[in-house]
Amino acid sequence: MSQRVYIFDTTLRDGEQSPGCSMTVPEKLKVGAKLVDLGVDILEAGFPIASQGDFDAVQAVSQEFPWVQVAALARCTKMDIERAAQSLSTAKRPRIHTFMATSDIHLKFKFKKSREQVLEDIVNSIRLARQYCDDVEFSAEDASRTDLDYLELVSREAVAAGARTINLPDTVGYSVPSEYAVMIGRIVKALGDTAIVSVHCHDDLGLAVANSLAAVEAGARQIECTINGIGERAGNCSLEEIVMIFKTRNDKAPFTTGIRTEHLYAASQALTSCISFGPQPNKAIVGENAFAHEAGIHQDGYLKNKSTYEIIDPKSVGVPEGRLVLGKHSGRHALKQRCSDLGYGDLSKEELDAVYQGFTALADRVKGVRNEAIADLCREATSARQPA
Ligand code: KIV
Ligand code: ZN
Repeated sequence: MSQRVYIFDTTLRDGEQSPGCSMTVPEKLKVGAKLVDLGVDILEAGFPIASQGDFDAVQAVSQEFPWVQVAALARCTKMDIERAAQSLSTAKRPRIHTFMATSDIHLKFKFKKSREQVLEDIVNSIRLARQYCDDVEFSAEDASRTDLDYLELVSREAVAAGARTINLPDTVGYSVPSEYAVMIGRIVKALGDTAIVSVHCHDDLGLAVANSLAAVEAGARQIECTINGIGERAGNCSLEEIVMIFKTRNDKAPFTTGIRTEHLYAASQALTSCISFGPQPNKAIVGENAFAHEAGIHQDGYLKNKSTYEIIDPKSVGVPEGRLVLGKHSGRHALKQRCSDLGYGDLSKEELDAVYQGFTALADRVKGVRNEAIADLCREATSARQPA
């Protein structure tokens, strides 16, 4: 089995549909351009039946980036599928992504339909989608809470009806890795090489990335994920985290993607500029503090050799250098280095003492001392120097 994992980005669909994240068509094009730079394999640009904006976004993204595979979401209804097909009518590499819930909870409370009726709707919808598009993906919504025998039957029938990708979402973020891996492994075995098994994990228990990793280990070869992990409720599997796991721990997770990781930070920043919040400061890979070392012991070790406290080279994910945050836990060594970076590499012992005293007084009052303030202290400490 190939170790290449396809990255299906749903920042512009699942991500966009969460509170504070709606984007206009120009904003979707701006973020879309960054996703293209990153090299995502499939770019889900919207849910065309949901709004005219979503319809226009799918059309605009597929026209702007004709070489990219663009997906449009549709429920298993004639109206949705035709609308998705229409939005993709000028796309060079269209994918219709149709979905229907398969768990008994959803069948009972949402659809009030039997398993047989739901299976029939799924098969008919996939056949209809195939009339418009060769590349059809089916998602069994709430797969992780679906009876496994029924899920296997649905997956087999979906492939027989023409789906090429079977996505098995943990829609409510309920699964744990060992359990999710069993489900994925069973469907991978049942489908063999007739379809790609895909995963789509939500983060309600903080396990979206772990579940996606477990799924890939069990044979899934497509991951649905988003930049900054945005998405419904607690969000989706974070693209930057799962990709960097494969890159950083390839010894334990020997999978490859087509992602050019040095574009990760720019993609995260572009998204942040279009929605109403950014990643939390301690967010892995793209958070403000992801590569910041404040504790003196850490800074000292880091300055001697970065590998002491850094497992990822910030440049490999596009993060600019010079992000050591100096605060009250920082030591003289880190301060001396910063003074030098700021052009004061020739401080005498007395001058450095004066800067250090001023710095610790400031650090007691503020969280993180800015470079400007340190430069001021250096200027003050060296102001008494005799002209050469
Ligand atoms: O979470 C989910 O189940 C979804 C599907 C529409 C793929 O977003
Ligand atoms: Zn979702």
